[in-house]
Amino acid sequence: MLEHERVVIHTGRRSRLPVIVAVHSTALGPAAGGLRLWHYPDWRDGLTDALRLSAAMTAKFAVAGLPSGGGKAVVALPERGELDDARRRDALRDAADAIALLDGVYATGPDVGTSSEDMALIGETTPHVFCRPTALGGSGDSSPHTAQGALAALRAVSRRLYGTACLDGRRLAVVGLGRVGARLARLLAAEGAALTVTDVDPDKRRIGDELGAVWRSPDETLTADVDIVVPAALGSVLTRRTAADLRCRAVVGPANNQLATPDVADLLHQRGILWVPDYVASAGGVVNAVSTELHRASADEARARVRAIEETVGEVLDTARRHGRTPAQAASELARRRLHAAPDPAAPPTASPGVGTR
Ligand code: PHE
Repeated sequence: MLEHERVVIHTGRRSRLPVIVAVHSTALGPAAGGLRLWHYPDWRDGLTDALRLSAAMTAKFAVAGLPSGGGKAVVALPERGELDDARRRDALRDAADAIALLDGVYATGPDVGTSSEDMALIGETTPHVFCRPTALGGSGDSSPHTAQGALAALRAVSRRLYGTACLDGRRLAVVGLGRVGARLARLLAAEGAALTVTDVDPDKRRIGDELGAVWRSPDETLTADVDIVVPAALGSVLTRRTAADLRCRAVVGPANNQLATPDVADLLHQRGILWVPDYVASAGGVVNAVSTELHRASADEARARVRAIEETVGEVLDTARRHGRTPAQAASELARRRLHAAPDPAAPPTASPGVGTR
């Protein structure tokens, strides 16, 4: 069954690349979610990614308590070869056209393969874009906020496991040193954590050296003998296989779609490994962007909302323990409750004010 409200697939007029926009749900408000410019063996894999990622955005907003819906856009690049600048710009303009046609049902933002500058380019075509550079009136790069949100989630986990939110001396393994992962690794190093790091790009080793971190291969880092593993790269790192090989006590990080299949959450639970759902731990970026750009929150208010991810994770973990559930079940029940509590958009308007529409 198709769970999504709307999925559009275009062949980009300029780039001839497949542009996919998946709107999973607008039950809580207009959909938002990043634009991923990434390589796929087949464009249909890009479609699958957009479908999964947009559903995760619905849950992300619901659990974060924000009146936005879930969406995602993907420009599916071929497996091999890089785009030159002109073709890349064409691809972004093609994505902007597809977003503009949705007329506010979906607004985009940065994601894997796109930046705040790219959002500026999209903003030339459509106003439905977050995270344009601050000089242009946007909220800028979202990755520092995503990293702060993941740090908040890590503190909640540390409190649960070790009775203190302090990460000083804690052994953490960061898998992926992209925009968010590198930021987060720096924050963790500043907290005094003992880091093992990795990336598929060997040039990133430099960042590890700078932070005094141990560098290992991606596989070794994921299964390192540490306290907490922090997925911060592309999705599906947690498979039945890797779940069996993990040696940590918890997995929590900012990567989207960490589970290869949903049952891996149960396997982790059976092994006594605490897994915080990715859509809870990765919400910092959207929380900041949506709070400041849609809801006119000040920078301080937005920061406080990102920091509140620590309480949200704490509550999810408490609820899970109280009801004998996995954190994955507790979080998805919370998301479902909030989605069902949303007013039916087809119902006639009432005199009462809507949910945070101002
Ligand atoms: N990459 C962000 C995420 O997955 C997407 C995003 C950031 C969307 C900021 C809108 C604004 O959560």
